[in-house]
Amino acid sequence: MVKIKDIPKIDRPRERFLQKGADALSKSDLLAILLGSGIKGKNVKQLSEHIIKKFGKNFLNITVDDLLEISGIGQAKALQIISAISLVKRFYEEEKGNEIIIKNAKDVLSLSYDLRDKKKEYLICIYLNARNALIKKEVISIGLLDKALIHPREIFYPATELHAASIILIHNHPSGNSLPSGKDHQIVKKIVQAGEIMGIPVIDFIIISEENYYSFYDKIKDSNKGFDYIADGIQETLFDLFEIKKPLYEVNIQKIEKSYFHFPKVKDNTFQLQNRRYLGNKYKLLGFIEDIVTEKCNGIKSFCDIFAGTGVVGERFNKPEIKIISNDFLFSNYVCLKSFLGASSNVKKIADKIDILNNLKTDRDNYFSECFGNTYFSLENARKIGAIREEIEKIAETEEEKNILICSLIYAVDKVANTVGHYDAFRKALDMLQPLKLLIPDVDYLNNGNNEIYKEDANILIRKITCDVLYIDPPYNSRQYSDAYHLLENLAEWKKPNVKGVAKKMDRSHIKSFYCLKNATQVFEDLIRNADCKHILLSYNNTGDSKDGRSNARISDNDILRILESKGKVEIFEKDYRAFTAGKSNSDGNAERIYYCKVR
Ligand SMILES: C[S@@+](CC[C@H](N)C(=O)[O-])C[C@H]1O[C@@H](n2cnc3c(N)ncnc32)[C@H](O)[C@@H]1O
Repeated sequence: MVKIKDIPKIDRPRERFLQKGADALSKSDLLAILLGSGIKGKNVKQLSEHIIKKFGKNFLNITVDDLLEISGIGQAKALQIISAISLVKRFYEEEKGNEIIIKNAKDVLSLSYDLRDKKKEYLICIYLNARNALIKKEVISIGLLDKALIHPREIFYPATELHAASIILIHNHPSGNSLPSGKDHQIVKKIVQAGEIMGIPVIDFIIISEENYYSFYDKIKDSNKGFDYIADGIQETLFDLFEIKKPLYEVNIQKIEKSYFHFPKVKDNTFQLQNRRYLGNKYKLLGFIEDIVTEKCNGIKSFCDIFAGTGVVGERFNKPEIKIISNDFLFSNYVCLKSFLGASSNVKKIADKIDILNNLKTDRDNYFSECFGNTYFSLENARKIGAIREEIEKIAETEEEKNILICSLIYAVDKVANTVGHYDAFRKALDMLQPLKLLIPDVDYLNNGNNEIYKEDANILIRKITCDVLYIDPPYNSRQYSDAYHLLENLAEWKKPNVKGVAKKMDRSHIKSFYCLKNATQVFEDLIRNADCKHILLSYNNTGDSKDGRSNARISDNDILRILESKGKVEIFEKDYRAFTAGKSNSDGNAERIYYCKVR
């Protein structure tokens, strides 16, 4: 080891300081002077270099415990360092305190760097005078932020004592995701309203994560660059901004009544596209999606629903003047999409054929009853389903007719299936005994003139199409749709494969989605890179954390934002899911999100 006295005098920190002043010294030299001496096996310079290197930019936030982890640093040396840091911080803050003017979110951030690495959630309030100068920064709460626990009194009592003219709130997300949660939205709303009543406006609510931040003020003002709080001499507040932008942030109740819970009348003996149980279907969110499209996408001529599932989203925009491109890689979905969105009015004899199929004699066993009788269906219904499917092969005169008859069968099967809506398992009690009955699809053929229906992998199709609006609703967790709907796929394809296991699944290796796998982010990035469109809407439910790992989202919010922002300006719309389910389903804190990107 090189001892400090072996270093030429002029290169030793103290000597250099005396000769050339503090500016000539490196950070580790300055620390070496503070520490004074090294330990056995490490001279003071090496010890200081080690500390500076280990903590890097985080040096100002280190704790005594952090330092004690370093061999050679005992309590005395640790306290020496922390006291020096605290002393400098104290003077620096006092010095700044008189004149820190908070002009924008970036100024707020410079006051709250220490929040970035906190392991617990904090809510901090910054009190400002009429010139937006900092009066005081105060911790309001530590621990999970909850509307029920945060009382405006705790925020506004100091505000009145300090004669504050306005306030700014800062909150940290230790999870690393700076996007506001449903709870954050509720809290902001509550505090903003209280501020308005008290005459102490809330200027901004900023969420900080380790590497990012979210300012409500900047977001509502529509800028990624950041806005000054005072523009043209006028101080804007979150209350004013919420008022102006209300329709974008919350759906007013009237709208919900009008379109969100609109149940169309079904004619006798017919069924409609949405009359089917399907995981992740967006039927109840159509109003929300339509509001965003109406607000953001003017005069569209084409709409692509590239992960269509049931196809309800594409159908909502299906009009003669709008071309719908509807795609799903499952054959069982494709036949239904074809029937509702791609069929022509030439299909005349469907009602007669459905009548024939409903009256088939079906008392013998067949492939379907042998595989699925007395499990997913009563034996009678399973025999009937198998017999009808076999007969469709014989009586359908065109591909279009065949698709419609299979589609009718898929919808009828769903009504008598002994399941909770998918085929991962059947219910123990076999009580779905009502006889299966085929109905006629209720289709508006006039709308279908120029629609295009595909059964392709979304990432392959995206390279071949162009559209005004691209709606993306991929699976968001590791549950494969082919596992949930293997039985319908089997029935639609009718290749009569072997089925295995309790759930009687066929081989599904040809219909696995990359969006359910580890590389989902790269696949999504590829999709967006190749999208030729003017507007992108992405549904991605990332807001609830489930205990069951399979239900957790594959692509992080930060990745979604990064990828979409590479394509254009992004806005996020969120609705509490309970607003659409009357509180009956979905885990707590779950919200439906739509990312809107205006492509550059
Ligand atoms: C969340 S669901 C869509 C639900 C749909 N928006 C609705 O309202 O019914 C996702 C759909 O994407 C399909 N899918 C999954 N991976 C796909 C891929 N790589 N290409 C095309 N479709 C895919 C699944 O079959 C499933 O129907």
